[in-house]
This record gives sequence, structure tokens and C-alpha cells, in this order.
Amino acid sequence: MSAWEKKLRSIEETCAQTVSKTKDLKKLESLRINVLGRKGRLTLLLKSIKDLSLKERRVLGLKANQLKDSLESLIGKKKEELSLSDLQNKLQSSASFDPTLPAYFFRQGHLHPLTQTLDRLTGALTQLGFSWADGPLVETDYYNFEALNIPPDHPARDMQDTFYVSPKSEVLSPKSPGHRTSDIGPRTTYLMRTHTSPVQIRKMESTRPPLRIIAPGKVFRHEAVDATHSAVFHQIEGLAIDHQVSMADLKGTLHLFMQHVFGPQTEIRFRPSYFPFTEPSAEVDVQCHFCHGGGCSVCKKSGWLEMLGAGLVHPHVLKNVGYDPDLWSGFAFGIGVERVAMILFGIQDIRMFYENDLRFLEQF
Ligand code: FA5
Repeated sequence: MSAWEKKLRSIEETCAQTVSKTKDLKKLESLRINVLGRKGRLTLLLKSIKDLSLKERRVLGLKANQLKDSLESLIGKKKEELSLSDLQNKLQSSASFDPTLPAYFFRQGHLHPLTQTLDRLTGALTQLGFSWADGPLVETDYYNFEALNIPPDHPARDMQDTFYVSPKSEVLSPKSPGHRTSDIGPRTTYLMRTHTSPVQIRKMESTRPPLRIIAPGKVFRHEAVDATHSAVFHQIEGLAIDHQVSMADLKGTLHLFMQHVFGPQTEIRFRPSYFPFTEPSAEVDVQCHFCHGGGCSVCKKSGWLEMLGAGLVHPHVLKNVGYDPDLWSGFAFGIGVERVAMILFGIQDIRMFYENDLRFLEQF
């Protein structure tokens, strides 16, 4: 046996012995480096093959490469074996870890009941052919009141008292000594919008008729908060302008709208009312969702629930935006989102929507 062959044999024996004895992953890795690494015994031996005769090279080269392959697989298998038992040891030694316990579940959130209601209402209206419009939450006196046919001293302003914002961001009550509308002019008095109706004006100013829009969003009122009144709430405005629009169009549209929201059997009724920006104006009631008109505690035995304000757009409003009232006419309506949500989900107190109490919110 040549010296070269002896070295090969000794590498094989030491490796087989060490691999069979070792129980340590680190020792196994250092063996691999010592034998098969860049400067390992077998690697260096293989490099020295060039010094052998051609005949020896053929035989010993083959043997050396076969040994290299078998050592690689031997060490690899041992590594797998040791890693597995290492993991099992770790699992057994940590008493607090129970692999049979179910996995942690992330708590899944869902949409707020008001968002669900808003989606339901706007979904129905977009199906009826209305498209979305938007306007600012801080409005000018002109868009919130004057352009809607509510001049400075009109009594309708009392119904929609709000928070006034001075150009220097000072918040003023309308009756506070510092607030004088005449000082800065009606177009530059800023306030938190009291309804979504100013979007009617903004949209009509920027669009040529015919048009059919809805404007959902937050509104603000200086309100005594109770079970059905909030100082911040949501409305959806609807506006349709075309030739010869009539109360019949308004009734038909609102009837379909309410049927989409409350079910196909839903009936509505119109009661005469007053809004300065519509003529004629109406309050629209929906047949009680709970007793189907029979009378219950929710509808206070009347069989009807007040749902929205509506009417035909006042000619003054059309003139204010530059539309010719002899050519164009339209209907408008404004619905309170919280009131609809209260009916849909059977909620008695509007304040619950804003308390962010998970015990309440998780029910919807
Ligand atoms: C208006 O705001 C009119 N802009 C609606 C309108 C639009 C009429 C277009 C005609 C044409 P009103 O103040 O009634 O009207 O409010 C409309 C709806 O908002 C009410 O029916 C009610 O559902 C809701 N609402 C009014 N005040 C509050 C409040 N403080 N908290 C919660 N919801 C309210």
C-alpha cells in the first residue's frame, strides 16, 4: 500500500469513528472543516494527486473522490440526526412550551356600524344613478346659508346653530362680541358646515346641468346632545337637476331608495314641511321597520319613522348658481346616517356610536 493510499485509509477511519461517536453539532462541523474544508486533509491530499504517476492517479483519484462523496453524505446525515435530537431536547426541557396548543388567532376587525350604514345608503343611491361629490367641512357662510336662500337674519339659522371659525382660526360663537359678519363680509365668514347641502351649490357652480349627485359626509351643529341628537353626525345629500323634474320624480326615487335600504315591502309618506332652499318641502317618513306600520315603542305607536328632509330645488337657489329656473328644475334630499343606523341595528342611543366601546361595536 502506497503512502498516499495509507493517508486515504486513515482519513476514512478517523472520520467514521468520530462521526459515529460524536453527539455534538459543533464537533461535527469542525470535523467537516478539518477533512473537507478548503484546507482540509482530504482536499489537500486531492490537490497533491498531480505528483502521482498517471496510473496511480487514475486509481487513487477515483478512490479519493468516492471517499469525498461518502464522507459528505455521512456527515450530512449525522448533522440532520443531531439537529432533530437537539430540537427534541429543547422542546422537552422547556416545560412551558406545549406544541399541541392551538395557534394564536389575530382578532379580526370589521367596519363600524356607521360605515356599514353609509355603504348601504350610498350603494343604493349609486345603483339609482347618482354619482359622488364632496365638499369642505369648514364652509363659508355663503355656501352653508346664503346661497341656499338663508340670508343673515333668517330664522332658519336658529335651527342650525354652529361653530364659527375666524380667519385666524379663533373659534367664535355667532353671538360672541368678537363676531361681526359685516366686518369681513358674508363670503369670508367661516363655520363648521351644518348640513351637506352646501355641496349642492359647489357642484352646481362647477357643473353644467343635467346632474345627479350624492354628497355623504360629516356635519356639525351647536346642539344639546341627547339620545337622538349629536353635535357631530353624518348626512347624505342627494341632488338631481334636469328639465321638468317634479315631486313625482322625488317620490319615486325616495321610495326605491328606502326599499333598497329597508326591504321591498317598505312604504314611505310625505308630510309638508319647510326648508328655505326647497319649494315645496317635505319631511319623509318610512313605515316602521320593526312593527311594519302596526305601532310599537320605537315609532311611538305611529307606525312611521321620520327619515329625511326633501323638496324641489327653490328657483332662488338655481338663480344663485347661474341656472335658468325656467329651463331647469330639480329635487334635493338630506338623510341623517345615524338615524338610519339606529333603526337598522335597533340602537336606542346615538352616543353609543362615538364611545368606541368594543363591547358595543363587536355586536355588529
Ligand atoms: C337638513 O339638514 C337639510 N339640509 C336636509 C335637506 C336637504 C332638506 C335637501 C331638503 C333638501 P335637517 O336639519 O332636518 O335638514 O336634517 C336632516 C336629517 O339629519 C334629519 O332628518 C336627521 O335624520 C338628521 N339630523 C338632524 N339633526 C341631527 C342631530 N343633531 N343628530 C343626528 N342626526 C341629526
